[in-house]
This record gives sequence, structure tokens and C-alpha cells, in this order.
Amino acid sequence: DAGVIAAATALKRDATLSDETLAVHAGEKMGKNGAMDTDSIATPIVSGTTHWFKSSGDLVAFKEGRRHSFEYGRYGNPTVKVLEDKISALERAEGTLVTSSGMNAIVATLLALVPPGAGHVVTTTECYSEARAFIRDKLSKMGIKVTFVELNDMETLKAVLDQGDVTLFYTDCPTNPHLKCIDIKLVADLCHRRGALVCIDSTLASPINQKPLTLGADIVVHSATKSSQDASVALRRSSPEYARGITTLAAPLVRTQPT
Ligand SMILES: Cc1ncc(COP(=O)(O)O)c(C=O)c1O
Repeated sequence: DAGVIAAATALKRDATLSDETLAVHAGEKMGKNGAMDTDSIATPIVSGTTHWFKSSGDLVAFKEGRRHSFEYGRYGNPTVKVLEDKISALERAEGTLVTSSGMNAIVATLLALVPPGAGHVVTTTECYSEARAFIRDKLSKMGIKVTFVELNDMETLKAVLDQGDVTLFYTDCPTNPHLKCIDIKLVADLCHRRGALVCIDSTLASPINQKPLTLGADIVVHSATKSSQDASVALRRSSPEYARGITTLAAPLVRTQPT
């Protein structure tokens, strides 16, 4: 299992590139833009934790934000950065954070985006059991209001949103284990009208079969041990301030090295 969380600015993409091409090429060739100093054709697996600077000038430039560099594994890893950029390309995301597990991505997303003592999470009775347990048992202890709705009960969802205090709607789609789906476009529309974010756990679809961000969701999470093997991710689009929030909270806590 790899372990990471990170954020990456989406690369400018050619809309005509297929998912097959993006899966192979997106994020690769980091040597070219200087993010990884290598002439290897395939992306090397970097398993070291600590990166050095060639000169004091480089270190100063890095600290002042004038130079990109890797520093310490928990803050960033060159191999994982390639994976994050690849997933961003496939999901049409602004940025991606790769974490050590799917639950890690889910917990980091919820803790970063829902304020203790004031937040309100709406989730579904069909949602992945461990995520549901975390929302029910842990978020409620932090003074976060939690409401469960049936997966496709839009009337109840509308009524809950009309309370005006919902921070985030969370569900898997397709659900684990029953493979039920919601109308992501409709849910995103209803939630956004009431100022609520939409987070979709898209694990069982993979980015090849479903791209929730293109349907209006704000965040996608995956347990990537299922379709993609290895790490897990949280993605987002159109809300750079949330991306910064989740990175600031989560990245220093949960990054680990690829194995
Ligand atoms: C839909 C879904 N989301 C999240 C998770 C949690 O992922 P992980 O086991 O990588 O923590 C799982 C795990 O089975 C899952 O099926």
C-alpha cells in the first residue's frame, strides 16, 4: 500500500485526449519540467524520505516559494506526484491528494471541510459502512449535525437542505455493496442552490466509468485499492480555497512513501 495525500494544480489538458492516453501519459516525464531530476523514460519509484538541495540558494528559493522542490516524504513525493497528476487528468480535477487509505481520504476530507460545532453533514443510509460509522459516531461528537437520508429520496433531501445549514452532502455512487446510484447532477444542483458541497465516493466506478466532477460534484474520493491498486485519493475542482484547506490540514499528517 502506498501512502500519500497531496494537491496538484491541474495541468492544461487537450480535451481530445482519451482516458486511455491520459492513463498512460498524464503526469509522466517529470524530468522535463524539472519536478523530478531524471532522464528515466518510465517514472522511477522514489522511496527515500528526505530530499536535498544542491545549494543554499536553492533552499532559500524553495523556502521563499520561488522554486519547486521536494523536501520530506510526508509533504510530497515525486512518484506520488505523477500519480496525483494522472488521477487529476482522468477525473478532470483541479488537484488530487493521494492518501494511505480510502478511509484516510474520507476522514481528511470531512475534517478539513466541515467545521466542528457548526457543520452539518447529510449522508445516505446506503453509504459505505465505515464512512457511515465515522460520520455518525465521530463527527456527531465534534458538535457536527448529522442527517441520514434514503439514497434517492430527493424530497427529504430538499427538505433537509431547506434548513439552510448543510455544509456537505456525502455518499458513495455506486454504493458498496448494493451498487445503487444517485443522480449526481440533480443532487449537486440541489445542494449548490443551498450552498452545500457535494462529495462522492466513486470507488466502485473508477475514474474510467464515472467522473462526478463533470456532473457537478465538488470532491471525489476513492479507495484506490479496488480498481487502481495502491493508494487512495481525494479530489476536487472549482474550489481552490477548499483544496488548500484540505491540503493544509491533511497533507502534513498523512503522507507516506510508496512501496
Ligand atoms: C466504497 C468504499 N469507500 C471507501 C472504502 C475504504 O477504503 P480503504 O479500505 O482503502 O480505507 C472502501 C473499502 O472497502 C469502499 O468500498
